[in-house]
Amino acid sequence: MDDTHQAPLRSGRLRGRTALITGAGLGIGRACALRFAQEGARLVLVDLAEERLAETRAMLPSDTTASCHTVNVTEETQVADLAAVIGDLDILVNNVGGGRPGRIWDLSVEDWDHTMRLSLRSMFLCTRAFLPGMIERGYGRIVCMSSGARNGTVWNALHMGACAYSTAKAGVIGFVRDLAIELQDASVTINAVAPGPIDTELAGPFLRAMEEKSLPYSPFRTVPMRRLGTPAEVADAVLYLASDEASYVTGTTLDVAGGR
Ligand SMILES: NC(=O)c1ccc[n+]([C@@H]2O[C@H](COP(=O)([O-])OP(=O)(O)OC[C@H]3O[C@@H](n4cnc5c(N)ncnc54)[C@H](O)[C@@H]3O)[C@@H](O)[C@H]2O)c1
Repeated sequence: MDDTHQAPLRSGRLRGRTALITGAGLGIGRACALRFAQEGARLVLVDLAEERLAETRAMLPSDTTASCHTVNVTEETQVADLAAVIGDLDILVNNVGGGRPGRIWDLSVEDWDHTMRLSLRSMFLCTRAFLPGMIERGYGRIVCMSSGARNGTVWNALHMGACAYSTAKAGVIGFVRDLAIELQDASVTINAVAPGPIDTELAGPFLRAMEEKSLPYSPFRTVPMRRLGTPAEVADAVLYLASDEASYVTGTTLDVAGGR
């Protein structure tokens, strides 16, 4: 992974806040966990994969308060059980998302549904579970993970086809836009972050392989900054929207996409 982005010193921007991050076992979710821990948040780390969660936990500063929960956030009962155990939250990061690629003529109904479940159902279930508590207590920050793919991305579209993923990531924007209006007086904000090509454990090698093959739509050629972003760079954007500094920011999408 590119390490050009230096983590700032601790400043306590999330001290006293409890933050739940879905998909915290790897990639952007793990980077959010590390960044939030630096800022003093109490963490609730959620992932399908127990061993990945344990790895993230081990990377946190030793004085971090964090609990780990092996949960499939696309399953209604599992999310409800999690909410019953966790109780109130200040910050929810709906990071889980993704989907199955494929040209539309090859895409099965299962592939399409899988993408919607992973990217949209998870966000719906977690937000529905934790939002009422935020409204009741008069404070909340929700950050949802969209993608540059919401507008179509050349490397995804031309390399393998990604209409389901692009549809789902555009759906995240509709979700955030609507709820920002519905929540007008609740002191709860909801925003999206839209990463470009990010050098995560899973996506990084795949994206770099396009450049190694000199493919014209490689992100190294089509992104103005001509490099991949780092998970830490995305985490900093999430941190801003999750912090008190973003108190008058809601319903927006913050691109972290190197100029695309
Ligand atoms: N990596 C990129 O280049 C990129 C670009 C734009 C947007 N995004 C978005 O950012 C988010 C994170 O991407 P990433 O590449 O860091 O993720 P990732 O694919 O590396 O996975 C992150 C974690 O999510 C967990 N997970 C998967 N399904 C789950 C489920 N049903 N319940 C609980 N946990 C589950 C996995 O076990 C994994 O640890 C996603 O929404 C993705 O669509 C990523």
